[in-house]
Amino acid sequence: MKVLHIDSSIMGDASVSRQLSQAIVAQLKQKDPAIQVQHLDLAATPIPHLSAEILMGHDEVQSALSEQLVQQYLDADVVVVGAAMYNFGVSSTLKAWIDRISVAGRTFKYTENGPVGLAGDKKVYIVSSRGGVYGENSPVDFQEGILKTVFTFTGVSNIEVIRAEGVNMGAESKETAMTSAFEAIKNI
Ligand SMILES: Cc1cc2nc3c(=O)[nH]c(=O)nc-3n(C[C@H](O)[C@H](O)[C@H](O)COP(=O)(O)O)c2cc1C
Repeated sequence: MKVLHIDSSIMGDASVSRQLSQAIVAQLKQKDPAIQVQHLDLAATPIPHLSAEILMGHDEVQSALSEQLVQQYLDADVVVVGAAMYNFGVSSTLKAWIDRISVAGRTFKYTENGPVGLAGDKKVYIVSSRGGVYGENSPVDFQEGILKTVFTFTGVSNIEVIRAEGVNMGAESKETAMTSAFEAIKNI
C-alpha cells in the first residue's frame, strides 16, 4: 500500500497538523508494517508556483516535477495531508501542490456530462488545524473547503477530516482539540 504523506505547516515540531499527520501515518504503519510512505514536506521543499512555461511544457525541469507529482498522487492508495489554516485558506505551498496535481486528462477529464475524476481509487485524510473554531462548512472556511473540493473533483469520495480547531484559544481549548483528534486517529 502506497501512502502519500504531505505536510505544509511552517511551524516544524510545534505544528499541530504535523503531529496529527504523523500520528495517522504511524497508525497506518501499525496496521500494515509493509506500507510504503512518501513524505512531501512543502515547507522545507516548496514546489515552485505553476507558470505558463511549466503548463506548456517549456520548462523541462519543472514540467518533469509536475509529471512526477501527478503520478505520485495517482499512485497513492492513501493520502494524508496536513493542512494548517492560514488566513482562512491553506498555505500557499499546499496550493502550489494542488495547482500541479489538478491536470485535465490525468487527474480529471471533461466529458459531455461534465467533469469526471480520474484519481478516485484512494482514501484521503485531511488533517485540519486552525486557531479559531469554524466547525463544518463555515462560509469563511476556505481551507477544508478547497481540499474537499479538489479531492472530490479528482474523483475521491473516501475523504475523512481529522480536525483540531480552537488551538489558539487557550491551553485548555488546544488540549481538548488535540485529545479528540488523537482519539479519532486511534479509530482509523
Ligand atoms: C500565517 C498564519 C495565518 C493564520 N490564519 C488563521 C486564520 O485565518 N484562522 C484561524 O483560525 N487560525 C489562523 N492561524 C492559526 C493556525 O491556523 C493555527 O496556529 C494552526 O495550529 C496552524 O497549524 P499548525 O499548528 O500545523 O502550524 C494562522 C496562523 C498563521 C501562522
